[in-house]
Amino acid sequence: MLSNPPGIEDIYPDRVVAWNRVTGAAREVFRLGNYKEIIIPVMEYTEVFARGLGDETDIVSKEMFTFEDRGGRSLTLRPEGTASVVRAYVANGEYNRLSSAKFFYCGPMFRAERPQKGRLRQFNQFGAEFFGSSDPYYDYEVIAMMHAISHRVGIGDFALLVNSIGCPAADCRGGYIERLRSYFIDHRDALCEDCKRRLDRNPLRILDCKQEGCSALKKGSPSIADHLCRACRDHHTRVKEHLDAASIAYTEDPFLVRGLDYYTRTTFEFVTGRLGGQNAFAAGGRYDSLVETFGGKPTPAVGFAAGIERMLLLAGETTDSNSALDVYLVHAGGESLGQALALARALRGAGISADLDPQGKSFKSQFKKADRESARFTVIIGDDEAAERSCTIKNMATGTQEKLSAGECPVRIRESLAGTEGRNGSD
Ligand code: HAM
Repeated sequence: MLSNPPGIEDIYPDRVVAWNRVTGAAREVFRLGNYKEIIIPVMEYTEVFARGLGDETDIVSKEMFTFEDRGGRSLTLRPEGTASVVRAYVANGEYNRLSSAKFFYCGPMFRAERPQKGRLRQFNQFGAEFFGSSDPYYDYEVIAMMHAISHRVGIGDFALLVNSIGCPAADCRGGYIERLRSYFIDHRDALCEDCKRRLDRNPLRILDCKQEGCSALKKGSPSIADHLCRACRDHHTRVKEHLDAASIAYTEDPFLVRGLDYYTRTTFEFVTGRLGGQNAFAAGGRYDSLVETFGGKPTPAVGFAAGIERMLLLAGETTDSNSALDVYLVHAGGESLGQALALARALRGAGISADLDPQGKSFKSQFKKADRESARFTVIIGDDEAAERSCTIKNMATGTQEKLSAGECPVRIRESLAGTEGRNGSD
């Protein structure tokens, strides 16, 4: 038997029901916020991520699935969506000439991480990206969308962590990074090998290191909150005021730097204690310089992405009565099979889901299949029915049966289904 590579899963139909509920909620919230879907490629030139996410990030330095195409160009399976959306935005004059643009996306991402609960090598995200304004309202808007999606799918037990990592100016993050560097230089021996290297090139990344020694040092390190410039502090205050006005609870976490280099000012994560080591199920922030990094004109931007598999773990399973089969056709072979096939065509043509087994076997085994498919009705065409071009409809919930002409069957089933839906709706 062939198996999947580690951390790469099949999503069987029973999980797809819950999956569609999560992505359906996201799509609806994006529609309400006027975000439009963009479909971005699954692979890009490696440069897109190396330049976009930062060479020193774990994702770029250790976790990308990178290979050479036949022409010797380096390609990478996308580890996230933001860099691709920015590249696509910069490439498309129609969109980047607009004063603002709102996109959302949904699809698989790839990271060569060590697989465990909630941490996969192929996982799926939905996300939203806003381009064109540095107004703190938009930081709030993307956070509020993720907040609404969580509640719509029944995830209520989470914390929203927010922070500002300021701007590169010397009187803001620039100066803070120097303070941070001298702090960690004083504790150099306790740092892991990766972080010793990060000391020179990107000390902020040390705050994102999960190694025990480095995490412990983080607690005593200088806080960005004490080093924000006036404009970044005001921006952060305005974001929090919007959250307060919408009664969205949050916790400030001055060490929330996130594992990607593109962030400026706002960073945030939706976290829960129910995912073991992987506590974030959605995250994002502002990235005001990324469009320029990709060769576009200066365009402030902000966005987020959520992990669908992690949300499924939190939202739990759901059953969807709409996915149950409407009709299972039971026949006696020969002439009655011919009629059953014709009736299946007529039912499907009338928008009624129908299934049957052409091999037929016994009535008993066909009824068993109808049960397994949770069919709402079985339509029986035995030898008698075949001779008189009729059929017997059995309501599987009530057990009641009715014989009528085959031609009348689709209409009668449609009426009965409408009656069932009406009853369910008024329950
Ligand atoms: P991220 O924090 O790397 O951010 O990923 C966002 C979410 O994707 C995580 O919170 C998690 O739910 C899910 N995720 C990440 N890695 C895995 C994994 N190995 N297995 C399962 N789920 C995973 C970004 O990707 C940014 N692009 C977010 C963003 C959008 N920032 C601005 N705009």
